[in-house]
Amino acid sequence: MSDNRASCLKGKGVTKIFGFGDKKTVAVNNVDFDFREGEIVSIVGESGSGKTTLSKMLLGLISVTEGEVLFQGQPRDISTGQKRREYWKGIQAIFQDPFSSYNMFNKIDSVLLDCINMRGGKSLPYEKKFEMMREACSFVNLEFKELTNKYPFELSGGQMQRLMIARIFLLKPKILLADEPTSMIDACSRATILDMLLKLRDEINMTIIFITHDIGLAYYISDSVYIMEHGKFVEHGKAEEVILHPKAAYTQRLINDVPKIYEEWDLSTV
Ligand SMILES: Nc1ncnc2c1ncn2[C@@H]1O[C@H](COP(=O)(O)OP(=O)(O)OP(=O)(O)O)[C@@H](O)[C@H]1O
Ligand SMILES: [Mg+2]
Repeated sequence: MSDNRASCLKGKGVTKIFGFGDKKTVAVNNVDFDFREGEIVSIVGESGSGKTTLSKMLLGLISVTEGEVLFQGQPRDISTGQKRREYWKGIQAIFQDPFSSYNMFNKIDSVLLDCINMRGGKSLPYEKKFEMMREACSFVNLEFKELTNKYPFELSGGQMQRLMIARIFLLKPKILLADEPTSMIDACSRATILDMLLKLRDEINMTIIFITHDIGLAYYISDSVYIMEHGKFVEHGKAEEVILHPKAAYTQRLINDVPKIYEEWDLSTV
């Protein structure tokens, strides 16, 4: 992580409160952040710490109760449908459940064609579009010719995850938000997905915000980490610094929990 990279997404005092009175939940509580261009940032915290709520605010899917979000140095304006669509050219997401990301009645080639059209390629000749789709599939080790007539539900979980990344390759957003994208797949597919995210950053200089409860995964993939507890960032900095020399007790606990899980697992298999 180098601090002279331009700011891509910045937040000041970002807060989300759900409900009122007795039923009030402060899901995200006055957080500051600054994600830089081409950086892989992990947001790490336990279940219920506010990670998904924060990512929904970053995507503009839910309102910010208090605070400000700046996109590429400018206050973000998503006050109209058109401005929101413009913003979404710059920020895209992949989610935990790939099934929720597709319209199941659209064949795979039309899923990919939509991405090309969204990037202004509607009037390109079909051969050019074909080549772009082929390239996007090969980026994620899928064979486009074998997929053209299939529906997303005819793919395996791992293939569907890779198709999501092929869409991102075509859309080329400035920022990719990945909320636990590897939680539903096996270890081998997980490693492939992580390597593809690294490749997106290396080849397209995408900023990747990786949301996870797994601090080991965060260490593997990220330049910087933000540790989230009960809606607040308790610590942030370079991944090595925070994870190898944690200052907050909560970070320490997350790290200590990692070997414990494996110890318990080992015992149970004896
Ligand atoms: N729409 C909502 N209405 C009310 N409370 C909500 C809503 N969405 C989330 N919350 C609450 O906000 C808190 C943070 O939830 P969030 O989904 O952001 O956690 P998370 O860190 O993503 O958890 P997980 O790791 O389990 O996905 C929780 O207490 C949750 O119950
Ligand atoms: Mg979540």
